[in-house]
Amino acid sequence: MKIGIDKIGFFTPNLYLDMNKLALSREVEPEKFTIGIGQEKMAVSPVTQDPVTLAANAALKIINDDDKSDIDLVMFGTESGIDHSKSAGVYVHHLLGLNSSARTVELKQACYGATAALQLAKGHIALNPESKVLVLASDIARYGLQTSGEATQGAGAVAMLISANPKIMTLEDKSTYLTADIMDFWRPTYSEEAFVDGKYSNEQYIYFFQKVWQQYKEETELRLEDFTAICYHLPYTKMGLKALRTVIEDGSKETQERLLDNYEISKTYNKNVGNIYTGSLYLSLLSLLEQQANLESGDRIGLYSYGSGAVGEFFSGILQPGFKDYLQKEAHEKLLSSRKELSVFEYEEVFLKTLPKDGSTVELDVDQDPAEICVAGINDHMRQYINKKQ
Ligand code: HMG
Repeated sequence: MKIGIDKIGFFTPNLYLDMNKLALSREVEPEKFTIGIGQEKMAVSPVTQDPVTLAANAALKIINDDDKSDIDLVMFGTESGIDHSKSAGVYVHHLLGLNSSARTVELKQACYGATAALQLAKGHIALNPESKVLVLASDIARYGLQTSGEATQGAGAVAMLISANPKIMTLEDKSTYLTADIMDFWRPTYSEEAFVDGKYSNEQYIYFFQKVWQQYKEETELRLEDFTAICYHLPYTKMGLKALRTVIEDGSKETQERLLDNYEISKTYNKNVGNIYTGSLYLSLLSLLEQQANLESGDRIGLYSYGSGAVGEFFSGILQPGFKDYLQKEAHEKLLSSRKELSVFEYEEVFLKTLPKDGSTVELDVDQDPAEICVAGINDHMRQYINKKQ
């Protein structure tokens, strides 16, 4: 049975910071951020967006009434969840008006959570071919002002509908994965910001890639030649390139050129958004699908997922006939081009304006946020969500 991505949508907040301006303010050469890190703009999340609203806004754009009744499993991958107990997916289930005969859970393993969801969705559909699964990947990446990770922050969500006979991409059966208990990046429950050993995290990302790629090659006998493109988890857009470069010489000159050209295209949205943790790999896939006009049905796309702490996985998909008709290229381009630029001062103000943690009640001004679904406040320890169109 063919199982895979039937629909894919993306959402990011309406505010961004220009990396050149951040560099000047931090007394760093702008090229360090734009070339060395490979980021041009960084999405900034206002207090009226959280991982729930980002995911709900991403999913709103892809699901119709039939999907709402067919979805019987919602899996929400995040590492910036808003509750230790209740799944962020349950809020989204309500905000989207999904069928109550559904299972809903949240999955966590740093940036790997949505890949786990995707693979679990595949198993669920193999047993229940009529089912549709909503996979959500939503995060706000925060390292803190004036930290070494600051240039690699971001915010956004990717929503994917997984089904049998998918319209966009089937997932191939073979995948290889690896787990090891390491401390390259983590966020204790008492901290709003992540802790990171930056250089070590880069090394581990590459080490995990080499391990799972080697195992994948051995088990499938596929080679670089067999891939039209490889998409990477992109914490910043230079990172995947560093990993690709470690294996690229195994390919012919033509293969090397193709993979490097497609890598450039696969970072289009990411370099304008920043790290969105669980969604970053899928934002890179979306960039490739929507921005590379030469892709054809039957093309094989490799995918490398990495979540610090750490789990890595290499898997692949095959593009389906007519897949381009089911993408939302113009809407995603408009989402990015209609954002409002912040000065560094304004970004710092927005960054520091967080929801109260002392149980106090707050009402937020949602008119400043053009998103359809927003956080409207907190009342009696409960986040209040609003869909402005309802
Ligand atoms: P840093 O120490 O500020 O930067 O940290 P650097 O000194 O390493 O410089 C970065 C690059 O800019 C270098 O290039 C420099 O040469 C270059 P590289 O050698 O690495 O290719 N550079 C310049 N290039 C052009 N012109 C110039 C110039 N100056 C310098 N003038 C770091 C960078 C990424 C480590 C930091 O931002 C950080 O800690 N970020 C967060 C951690 C991270 O993103 N790790 C990635 C792998 S782990 C992962 O992906 C998981 C994650 O998503 C979390 C999860 O799973 O949940 C993070």
